[in-house]
Amino acid sequence: GYDIRNLLRTTGNVTYDMGFANTASCQSAITYIDGEKGVLRYRGYPIEQLADKSTFLETAYLVIYGELPRPAELADFEERIKRKTIIDEGMRKFFETFPRGSHPMPVLAAGVQALGTFSTTSIGDDPQSIEKATERLIAKMPTLAAYGYKNSRGEPFLYPDNALSYVQNFERMSFGYPTEPYHFEPEITRALDVLLILHADHEQNCSSSTVRLVGSSGANIYASISAGINALSGPLHGGANQAVLEMLEAIKASGISVKEYVQQVKDRNAGIKLMGFGHRIYKNYDPRAAIIKQHADRVLALKSGRRDLLDIAQELEQAALADDYFTERKLYPNVDFYSGLIYEAMGFPKEMFTVLFAIGRLPGWIAQWREQRADPNSRIGRPRQVYTGVPERDYVPMDDR
Ligand code: ACO
Repeated sequence: GYDIRNLLRTTGNVTYDMGFANTASCQSAITYIDGEKGVLRYRGYPIEQLADKSTFLETAYLVIYGELPRPAELADFEERIKRKTIIDEGMRKFFETFPRGSHPMPVLAAGVQALGTFSTTSIGDDPQSIEKATERLIAKMPTLAAYGYKNSRGEPFLYPDNALSYVQNFERMSFGYPTEPYHFEPEITRALDVLLILHADHEQNCSSSTVRLVGSSGANIYASISAGINALSGPLHGGANQAVLEMLEAIKASGISVKEYVQQVKDRNAGIKLMGFGHRIYKNYDPRAAIIKQHADRVLALKSGRRDLLDIAQELEQAALADDYFTERKLYPNVDFYSGLIYEAMGFPKEMFTVLFAIGRLPGWIAQWREQRADPNSRIGRPRQVYTGVPERDYVPMDDR
């Protein structure tokens, strides 16, 4: 019953909130987190139930449209996605020009940005255009990700096979060869599906806030989500899953004990952190990490993954959870702590881990962008600052400096 625009009008006071730790930038009905209790829900549904019973595409539908689909709605959604998985031949050629060894994350960001230019219709703000862009993005993201991966290895691209499910299609495009049939292992496909579900949204994290901020200027959905992918790439955000594996490998290679490593973190030796630990919102066990941990055991039992690294990870977790430094600061494993070990066992190189995160997070970015665009109270994002520079001085001619 109140006019939120009145509440938002500036009064001349500025709140200084470094990293926006206590500032809500929007109202949102998509994801609920209780960081103290370790609760995560999409549209009210607990993450544990979705990870147990849902599929990624069904969860994507839920996150974007707000309700679980009825059978006919899901079948129709899946069909519309399948029809859009192929990318323009011109765009495929554009991909081929990235040098061998290019990191697939910036390639993915460039691909999503380019999708806006390879659209056959204008990218309007009308509901049909937004709907079409939504389906194109979900459909083409795995194709783009797999193309980036194949390109980084100098291997031939595979066209999507629309007889396959969303996740199977991505697996085959990533690991398959044109001349050989692809063998699927249902446990692996399901684990990948679950990992994508776990990443589908996480309210106003750095990349989703970026998507909203860019979108708040009226920028189109492709430009906004491409910016989100870049925000995700950093090691303090989505890039942490790659950093965790590198940390575990470094511990293994150096031969130091887990106890010694934990001590180095506590001593802040060269600013090292326990990667995959800590979270701005969770001050308790990240519920996604608990689910991933169960799958890590199962996948590593099936595939010849790095069990030695899983052992180090488990030892690290136990050591940290028994240590005052970590408990006082409420530092617990986050979603990235175990995910890299599963991706590695599946056969993905480290550079692909954050790309997998991006595929999972896409429905959240889309939902956030759409929610903001549909909000009549939405306005351009424009933080204030506290100026700390020189108050005023006169220009000094070149010869007098
Ligand atoms: N290892 C060691 N100490 C840590 C860690 C860590 N992983 N994380 C935080 N701390 C310490 C900080 O040094 C600080 O200590 P101090 O108060 O004595 O100075 C205290 O805990 C609070 O940490 P902040 O950095 O203020 O917490 P913030 O909310 O700003 O950062 C973040 C959260 C970025 C996730 C941080 O915990 C971190 O860098 N973790 C490692 C990287 C990581 O795993 N990122 C993935 C996050 S989840 C995601 O994006 C999906």
